[in-house]
Amino acid sequence: MINKAIIMAGGSGTRLRPTTLAINKHLIPIYDKPLIYYPLSLLMLIGIRNFLIIVKKKKKNDFTKLLGNGNNYGIKINYCEQKKPSGIPEAFVLGEKFINNDSVALILGDNIFYGQGLIEIISSEKKISRGARIFSYPVRNPKQFGVIEVKKNKIVKLIEKPIKTKSNLAITGLYFFDNKVVNYSKKLKPSKRGEVEITDLLNKYRLNGKLKADFIGRGGAWLDTGTIDDFYKTSSFVSSIENRQGLKIACLEEIALNNKWISKKNINDSIKFYGKCLYSEYLKKLK
Ligand code: DAU
Repeated sequence: MINKAIIMAGGSGTRLRPTTLAINKHLIPIYDKPLIYYPLSLLMLIGIRNFLIIVKKKKKNDFTKLLGNGNNYGIKINYCEQKKPSGIPEAFVLGEKFINNDSVALILGDNIFYGQGLIEIISSEKKISRGARIFSYPVRNPKQFGVIEVKKNKIVKLIEKPIKTKSNLAITGLYFFDNKVVNYSKKLKPSKRGEVEITDLLNKYRLNGKLKADFIGRGGAWLDTGTIDDFYKTSSFVSSIENRQGLKIACLEEIALNNKWISKKNINDSIKFYGKCLYSEYLKKLK
């Protein structure tokens, strides 16, 4: 059973400048709440309560102001600063102590997943004692992502931002790994673009026959937050659903309450913490 996760929320957000010059990308809003709420909520929905959030150098205080130590959501959050964005697998080197002898989930702090039945797909084999597990999703623009090429239901190739590929299957930013991930990550060398690549790490598992891919079908949504345009489109998606249903996507307190990790008293504390705002109004309805 996986009960630990790392959220990768460092990086410079260069493509979103000037917005991200003073504010970290993961703290700017997708509709009515900061981006980081969405990946965090997904992992809480599958029952994970122990988190390490990797943030950009000198940005830890901005995240603690918002999420604290996780108490308000009945979870535990530790933070670690990454000196420079030298690659996603660095999560496992920086997180070695946190991972200890366990398996671990990794989610990229800018990834948003949504859809009926998604939690079942993701948590169906949460028990990773051996190997790695990824989730792929069909996209129109595969060249902007890590991609898997599949033949007869077997992954034959993993490529980061391919110049040419026949596959439309992107590798989403949610991964499950066994404990070997720490040692594998330590041995990775930077690619031509100067970063250690998540696809190189996954390839180590693939070559040992220990990589499993699940497919999120067209009924699910995996949404982009790479550009300002993506922020608007994704915000508009969230706004449409929330306003139609009157229910929020990624309300951390609601998930924690449903999971029985917090009590109604904690909800009152959160209402005080947020003060007068629409998010608080929603929390009031949960009591
Ligand atoms: O979103 C899925 C894609 O994410 C995958 O398909 C790719 O295989 C994977 O490499 C990654 O590609 P991106 O180009 O989207 O990665 P990006 O550099 O934008 O970083 C993704 C997130 O991870 C972002 O929230 C910033 C954070 N990050 C990234 C790096 C390289 C860090 O916190 N530290 C880092 O060193």
